[in-house]
Amino acid sequence: MKNLIDKLERDNYLDKDELLTLLTGFTPEDADYLYKKARKTADRIYGNSIYVRGLIEFTNYCRNNCFYCGIRRDNKRAERYRLSKEDILACCENGYQLGFRTFVLQGGEDPFYSDEMLVDIISEIRAKYQDCAITLSFGEKSYEQYALYKAAGADRYLLRHETANEEHYARLHPKELSCMNRKKCLYELKELGYQVGAGFMVGSPYQTMENLVEDLLFLKELQPEMVGLGPFIPHKDTPFADFESGRLELVLLLIGVVRLMLPSALIPATTALGTIHPQGRELGILAGANVVMPNLSPVGVRKKYMLYDNKICTGEEAAECRNCLQNRIKKIGYEIVVDRGDYKALEAVS
Ligand code: 5AD
Ligand code: FES
Repeated sequence: MKNLIDKLERDNYLDKDELLTLLTGFTPEDADYLYKKARKTADRIYGNSIYVRGLIEFTNYCRNNCFYCGIRRDNKRAERYRLSKEDILACCENGYQLGFRTFVLQGGEDPFYSDEMLVDIISEIRAKYQDCAITLSFGEKSYEQYALYKAAGADRYLLRHETANEEHYARLHPKELSCMNRKKCLYELKELGYQVGAGFMVGSPYQTMENLVEDLLFLKELQPEMVGLGPFIPHKDTPFADFESGRLELVLLLIGVVRLMLPSALIPATTALGTIHPQGRELGILAGANVVMPNLSPVGVRKKYMLYDNKICTGEEAAECRNCLQNRIKKIGYEIVVDRGDYKALEAVS
């Protein structure tokens, strides 16, 4: 297995069969070998800096009905909320004071927010915080809509592809949603000049190792600037309530593989990873991640943005999470920096 890992480090690529061999046959020693190389790669490009993104979960209304997600349309037990423009700007101000230089506006697909409203919110953040990056994450829109938000000042867009395999996609989503449209959105976002984030859940229901290989090869083809991956975690009020969570070891392995396949990628150690293991986020960083995304949403709404059960950090103030993470990251030899944390193309480093 070590020679496969060496090859991955050298070529930033393995073919389908090689990836399958790696994912199905790795031992704990192989995993450690991979993490060391992944970490070395991240250190070479980003040093010991860990970037922070302030997550503002501005609406938990969603017109979609994804089988895995706690804020799906049919979950009548979800208590719905929406933040006003003023609420959102207050989150940004709080975040700015705490040293955040990226704001992520994330929400369900909520038609309440018209393009006019979204453009107004984005432009105001753009004007007020010129040294900050604005990241959007509110699902599938048309090319024209993405273009409007970009013109208003957005820099980045997060849209996990969830699974690159069409049949698997259809087992996780109702039939109005398609893998093809998801991928189309990602390519359009790239074309418009966004820094783009794709990604997927590890251990989602019906996922096979072959599916994960397809996910990795899709990422290699798309070349996203950001890759979000975390474990699937069941939510009690969804059709997937009785499935098991994704496994820590597999998530970490995939973080390591993605780091070597896309050396410059910005890879978050996700909240979901922190939810399945008390040191999940630290382990994610040690396996090659270089971003953390603490919550900036008002404490009063945090418990309502429950995509999965037992989500961490829903009772804490933004300042508490910021300090907590700072300490955790320091302990493992890394440092949170006050920086937009843009993508660094490899050529610019070596
Ligand atoms: N477990 C883990 N991750 C989830 N997401 C949605 N529901 C769950 C769940 N039950 C992830 C999806 C989505 C992102 C915002 O959260 O990948 O893209
Ligand atoms: Fe939120 Fe530790 S990061 S409490």
